Amino acid sequence: MILITGASGQLSSLIIAKAKELGLDFITASRALNADRQMDFDHIETLDFTGVDTIFLTSAGYAEDDIVIRRHNNVITAASTQGVKHIVYTSLSCASDHLGFALAHRWTERRLQESGMAWTILRNGLYAGLIGSLTSSCEGRITAPFGSEEISAVSREDLADAAVTVLKDTAAHNNKVYELSGVKSFSVPDIARRLSVHYEPTDLSTERSRLDTLQLLPFQVPMLMSIYASSMAGFLKTDSSDLTKLVPKPRDALAIACSVVTNA
Ligand SMILES: NC(=O)c1ccc[n+]([C@@H]2O[C@H](COP(=O)([O-])OP(=O)(O)OC[C@H]3O[C@@H](n4cnc5c(N)ncnc54)[C@H](OP(=O)(O)O)[C@@H]3O)[C@@H](O)[C@H]2O)c1
Repeated sequence: MILITGASGQLSSLIIAKAKELGLDFITASRALNADRQMDFDHIETLDFTGVDTIFLTSAGYAEDDIVIRRHNNVITAASTQGVKHIVYTSLSCASDHLGFALAHRWTERRLQESGMAWTILRNGLYAGLIGSLTSSCEGRITAPFGSEEISAVSREDLADAAVTVLKDTAAHNNKVYELSGVKSFSVPDIARRLSVHYEPTDLSTERSRLDTLQLLPFQVPMLMSIYASSMAGFLKTDSSDLTKLVPKPRDALAIACSVVTNA
């Protein structure tokens, strides 16, 4: 039996809907009450993997690195103690290596590869929806500190399709790493062109000052700044993706980014 974690999250919700459609044998886990098993990775006593062969481990949210690492370590330790055979983990694409939150993903990959269980690592690209949502449009112009380089973002829906492709036959994906960046990169100037608005790139100091005025958690500012700086420097683009190995016809990531640009 498969257990899919993070059931209330956006990515896991999509995966669960698709797994249901395919009739896969699975149960859900979440901190939310409506899951089959209520689990919080911060509380090891909740990590009950009885009868579970495969865990689909959705990376656990936004927090300081030591907290995310501890959560993932708790799951991997409990799984290996309780006889789970395979963990499929949602990691982060190599193109995102300069992002502040890459470290916890790379730590988890290494921990998993040394766990003695079988593993599959899905290195998800940045969500196209995330790029769109960080781009706001006001009076016919977009201002954002993304620079003008392309980004290999991908739709969440494609990542959910990739996940169920693996879950249909986990043994076929034993000990494999898949780079799941978008196959058709786009830039924020492309978003502006598609929306027929003007793009005025802002700089990092201006953005940091703006973020400092918002009620963000301390780790969120460097996290966001690392996305903008990596984009400006052209590190969020890659020509190497395994996406079409798992999803033959990826969706139009640019259209998805455009659909969530906010109107300020
Ligand atoms: N590739 C990207 O662009 C990108 C962007 C943002 C985030 N991510 C990563 O991808 C993951 C899934 O993305 P998403 O869009 O579904 O994010 P989301 O909607 O914000 O969901 C957050 C997820 O984290 C789980 N979580 C948080 N704290 C947890 C804890 N203590 N124990 C167990 N689970 C915990 C939640 O599970 P429950 O609430 O169901 O317990 C939920 O599945 C995120 O958690 C994050 O690590 C990737």
